[in-house]
Amino acid sequence: MRDEYALTRFHGDSEVAPGLVDLAVNVRHGSMPGWLAEPLAASLTELASYPDPGPARAAVAARHGRHPDEVLLTAGAAEAFTLLARVLRPRRAVVVHPQFTEPEAALRTAGHEVSRVLLAPYDFGLDPGLVPPEADLVVLGNPTNPTSVLHPAEAVARLAQAGRVLIVDEAFADTVAGEPASLSRRGDLPGLVVVRSLTKTWGLAGLRIGYVLAGAPLVAELARAQPLWPVSTPALVAARACASAEAVAAEEAIAVSLAADRAHLVAALERLPGLTVAGPPRSSFVLVHLAGADAVRLELRRRGYALRRGDTFPGLGPDWLRIAVRDQSTMDNLVAELAGVLGPSL
Ligand SMILES: Cc1ncc(COP(=O)(O)O)c(C=O)c1O
Repeated sequence: MRDEYALTRFHGDSEVAPGLVDLAVNVRHGSMPGWLAEPLAASLTELASYPDPGPARAAVAARHGRHPDEVLLTAGAAEAFTLLARVLRPRRAVVVHPQFTEPEAALRTAGHEVSRVLLAPYDFGLDPGLVPPEADLVVLGNPTNPTSVLHPAEAVARLAQAGRVLIVDEAFADTVAGEPASLSRRGDLPGLVVVRSLTKTWGLAGLRIGYVLAGAPLVAELARAQPLWPVSTPALVAARACASAEAVAAEEAIAVSLAADRAHLVAALERLPGLTVAGPPRSSFVLVHLAGADAVRLELRRRGYALRRGDTFPGLGPDWLRIAVRDQSTMDNLVAELAGVLGPSL
């Protein structure tokens, strides 16, 4: 029997292969700053001791204006979704799509039924009225992967209500300068759980580090569901370093230059006939609609470029592609290839 949910376990890293330009995974490429590389390297001398999350927890709490009891360090945002799915007991779980599919996959794996709310192309804007009032668990991403859409903080905050857990996946919040839509500091909103990742902007996907910001009682429950010592010493050292004022300023500078590279890509894409850019895009990737996008993706792959297929995301389909924003010359080369695929006369 066909498992209609199997594709929710597909992720961009499966698109990447040696020799291909990776435009499928939304992890920033680039050199690691000294303030991160040095403590990380030094942490390798401490591996004989079990990890102590205390300093990282305090640093992350200070970065977001929260109490350390409201912070849980996790092995990436991915671990957070699994813990939440294991600990929460929703009667009516709703996931707002299109979005990263792992939260839904984790909920289903833990035995929960999940209903979907689908936002509409091409702006994929959030209408809080689409979420059923009786939903006692709501999951959405902001900015959202794969649409790159940033929902206003007020619209997301309106989804929080007594008797409901609202999980906001902010894995890409740091890709937007100033984080205008982040709810990470909103300890006052009932049931709010913010999930953050440090693997994207800082190129730490292999290290596995992220965190949850939530009310202290839920954080304590999630911690009880974790295995012993779930986050390694190097990952904790990275979390502490990435919470510093220097890191936050660097993040902002990266977001500003990312916005310029993204605008360059979007302008070039919009010159191609038949192609629509969803959004406006606000994160480190761009979602495009193009009739026959799946065949175009395969041809680009043959020409050396790995792009992320769109058909595994609920609410999208084979006419969608996601492109990671890289430097402008890589983007120019991609668009030239894409123009060649779409028609030699372009
Ligand atoms: C929207 C979103 N949230 C969370 C994650 C998981 O991030 P992490 O590497 O921190 O587990 C991803 C990874 O692709 C993602 O796209």
